[in-house]
Parts: sequence; C-alpha cells; structure tokens
Amino acid sequence: MSDAGLGIYDTRRWLIPFRSQLLPQIFTDTLIIGSGVAGLQCALESVSHGDVLIATKDDPALSSTAWAQGGIAAAVGDGDDPAQHLRDTIEAGAGLVDPVAAERLVRDGLREVERLLEEGFRVDRDDSGGVHLGREGGHHHSRILHTDGAATGIALVRHMLDRVKAQRGIRLWSRCHVVDVVTEREGDGMVVRGALTWHPKFGLQLVWARAVVVASGGAGQVFRETTNPRTATGDGLAIAWRAGAALADLEFTQFHPTTLYVAGGARHLLSEALRGEGARLVLKDGSPLMARRHPMGDLAPRDIVSRAILDALAQSGESHVFLDARHLGAERFRARFPGIAQVLAGFGLDGGRDLLPIHPAAHYTIGGIWTDGDGRSTVRGLFAAGEAASTGVHGANRLASNSLLEGLVFGRRCALAAAADRLPDSASVLVEAHVQSTGRAGLDLDDVRSSLRSAMWRHVGVVREGTHLVDVRDMFDFWGRYALDAVFEDPTGWETQNLLTVGRLMVEAASVRHQSVGTHYRRDAPVGGTVGPRSRRARGGDFEVCPLDLVAP
Ligand code: SIN
Repeated sequence: MSDAGLGIYDTRRWLIPFRSQLLPQIFTDTLIIGSGVAGLQCALESVSHGDVLIATKDDPALSSTAWAQGGIAAAVGDGDDPAQHLRDTIEAGAGLVDPVAAERLVRDGLREVERLLEEGFRVDRDDSGGVHLGREGGHHHSRILHTDGAATGIALVRHMLDRVKAQRGIRLWSRCHVVDVVTEREGDGMVVRGALTWHPKFGLQLVWARAVVVASGGAGQVFRETTNPRTATGDGLAIAWRAGAALADLEFTQFHPTTLYVAGGARHLLSEALRGEGARLVLKDGSPLMARRHPMGDLAPRDIVSRAILDALAQSGESHVFLDARHLGAERFRARFPGIAQVLAGFGLDGGRDLLPIHPAAHYTIGGIWTDGDGRSTVRGLFAAGEAASTGVHGANRLASNSLLEGLVFGRRCALAAAADRLPDSASVLVEAHVQSTGRAGLDLDDVRSSLRSAMWRHVGVVREGTHLVDVRDMFDFWGRYALDAVFEDPTGWETQNLLTVGRLMVEAASVRHQSVGTHYRRDAPVGGTVGPRSRRARGGDFEVCPLDLVAP
C-alpha cells in the first residue's frame, strides 16, 4: 500500500468519548456483532464453549444474508466434487484466491450443506424428490441449492434464528449498535477486551468479552447503486480499522449486473438464477447483449457482464438494458421465483411477460478485515467471519453463491478458534476515551451520505480511472476534516463516519492497485500480466498493527 498517511482516517481511534467505569457493565464469553449467516453459525458453535451475546443493529432478520437470492454452492451433485468447485472458485478469483482457504471453503462447505439437509433445512427439489441444483455464472457444474427459487437467504436466516432462540446460553440483542471495539495495550500490540454498545432504550453500555467476532456484513451502502439492505454501512470494517486491525482487498467490490432499475424506485436484485434458467440480457431492440462477448455468454463472470452493460449504455445513451425471462411464461415464473414475482408486481411488471429494466449495482464487499484461515484478525481476541472478513477465498472476484457457504464454513471455524484462543476472564479494565472535536456546526448528514455515495458510484464503481480516484480521494479528505472530526450521539452520525472511513480506504486501495484484475477495472491500467499480491493495511501504516494508546490523541 502507499506510504502516504490517511490523515484523520488514520488518527481517529474512538467515535465518542467515554469512561468505562461510568457505564453499565455487561459480561459475556463471546460477543458477536451481526446476525447474518456467519454470526448465527458462530453463535451456534460458540455456545458449546461459553455464553454468547449477539448484538445486531436492526431487526435480527434484516441482513444481507436475509436478502441473498442466490443459493448455496456445494458439490453435492452427481459427477461433481469439491476439486471442481475449487477450480471454479480459483478461476473466478482471477489469480488472487488463497488456495488453502478456498479448499477449506469447498470441502468444509460440502459438510456444512449436508448438515443443513440433515437438520431438515428445506431446499427446492426436482420431480423425483432429489435436490434441485441450479447453475450460476462462473460455475461449470450445476451445484446451487435454492429455497423457493430465489429466497434462500431468508429461509436460512429463519432456520438458524429458530435454532439460536431455542438455545440456552445465547442472548440476542436487536437494535444494539456497536460503536467501537475496546482494546488494551499488550506488549507491542493490542488485545480486545469488549465493545462499547448503544441501544435506544439502554443508551451506552460496556460489554466485556473474552473474544469479539465481527460478522456485520459488507459495505454496499457506500455506493449509490446497491443491492444491499440499508444496514450494510461497513460498520464492522470501520470498527476493526479504528481498533488497529489490518484490512485487505478493499479495491474489490463485486457489482451485480442485474438490478431492477425503475427510476425513483428502490433497487432490487434480479437473481442470476434467472439467467441460470435461461433468461437473457437484451438491448431495447431485442438483440442479445452477451452474444460473442464471452464463451459463457449471459453467465459470464459478473464484472464482465456489468462492463458489457455499461459499454452498451454508453453507446446508446440510455439508462438501462433489459433482462428477458419471457420464455418461462407467467405461470412458471411465479411458481419458480415467487419472491421476485412479488417485487416485480409492485412495479406493475410480470417477469413471464415483460422485459425487465436492469442496471448493475454494488453487491458484495470482497475486501474486509484480514483474517487467517480461522477468522483471527491481526488484533488478538478480534475475529471476523462472513462478508466482513477478507479470508482470501474470493480473490479478486467472488464466485456466485459462495458467500452463504463462506458464512457457514468460517462462522464455525471462527468460533472454534475463539474458543481455543480464549482470553482470560473479561474482567473490566479502566478505559477512558478522549476525543477532541473541533465541533463544527451545520452538518447535513443526509447530504454528506448522498455525496459520498454518488462519488463512490461514479468514480470507484464498475470502471475506475487514476485521475478520478485522485479527485475522489481529495473529496473524502475534505469531508473527513469536518464530518469525521465531529462527535455524534446516535447511529446516523456513526454510520456516516463509518461509510466515510470505508469509502476512503476503498479509494486508497483502488488507487494503489495499478492494474485491472477481477472486479477492479481501471481504464488506465492494463488487464493481464502478473497479478498480486493481496493488499493489506492497518491504521497508521503498512500491514504491521501499529501500537496504539487506549487514550486517543
Ligand atoms: C444472485 O442471486 O444473483 C446473487 C447470488 C450471489 O451473489 O451469490
């Protein structure tokens, strides 16, 4: 990474000032931040080793997992095996996949899926009662398990939440926002002691924990166009960054080519499973968009399809192209994709009869908190799993439907590592966080958010370019000087500060990688050549975790 410092983004340790001894104190063995598949899986495994507290900032059922339409990829089909799944994962990742981590993903993943089926998790079946296996981009085999066509994520969340709620020893706190992870100096590095939380009813509290797991999902909301829920503001990444953990691969965000595009309407993903069932991308005149562009046609990797769409739009001057699933017919469309059919009906569209207007949008945060193969971050006692983590399994581009799988595999591995590394009792320590703010008045947070999201979409979206990255970096540095410098009292302000932090780090990573690889496409840098290495950076410098004081400057 570059040697240049990131100014206030490097120096800000805490979002708000506090004195630990003045706050209500809560104790737990494992604190898990987030209630998607990785967090729930981690909780279900961790509870065999001690008590667990899950803090989730909204409704527990609102997460990127719950919104996931693609299914779970696993080599359960005849003639398929983990080695072939591994090959596809490595090929999609364009030279940056960590093969050891990816092998764990596909092998442990197969076992996780078998376990789910044994527990009675309901998946779509074919006429003979066998598991129906769909095909998605980048897979050379049909290996995607779905529930109700494109409602796999919500079915998985319900299944896991039922198990969590039936389990003694797991407390689930909804609407509980984690503001910062609390660390203490230990030798040359830092060790995690717990977290500062905020709840609308209980206010600030200190949760002391023997391990903290960040499973809070990605940062899709950093972009104006996104398939992610409003909660995906990258809080976990920013919290880990402030605590001194290294973040990695932030130049890689996966853009999904087929997001429903109706001006003024909320964006909705139109699952790749539709193209897996034969839907095609077409221009206004009905001509096929992907013909002769890639051997895999409409199921080519997402970055290639997304760029093809933007190229076509640049040529036509229009705002969207179309997805044509009319071959399914109205009845079959509704039966196969009931959730999508319902969303479309809200816009007066019928997928079996109408062409569907689509446009790419930010979908999956590939980069995140750097972890080893068991979820350990570079700060002792701090772990990460799922989309918040950067394990190296996705390289420069994630293979479709590998993310729920990742949550299942690394959620469990993380729990086992946290139990094995168990820190001493989470007795409270004295922590005083001082924050010096210049207290500038007149901040319009909505405006800051929408400006940063637009700038990210325009300049750090599907296509990037060095000179624009410099411009957007300057914008972030300007916003940082007044919005990151402020002290807020509620989640809207903290989320905005987290979005700024993650956005700034993404800009930095995108500026430093002078090559086009996977999802990171720079108009001013060639595709091809030697790729790598993975990028990693911790607050205040290169990869090394810098020693930090508990008391911020
Ligand atoms: C989709 O259904 O198209 C999304 C699947 C995924 O992102 O893995």
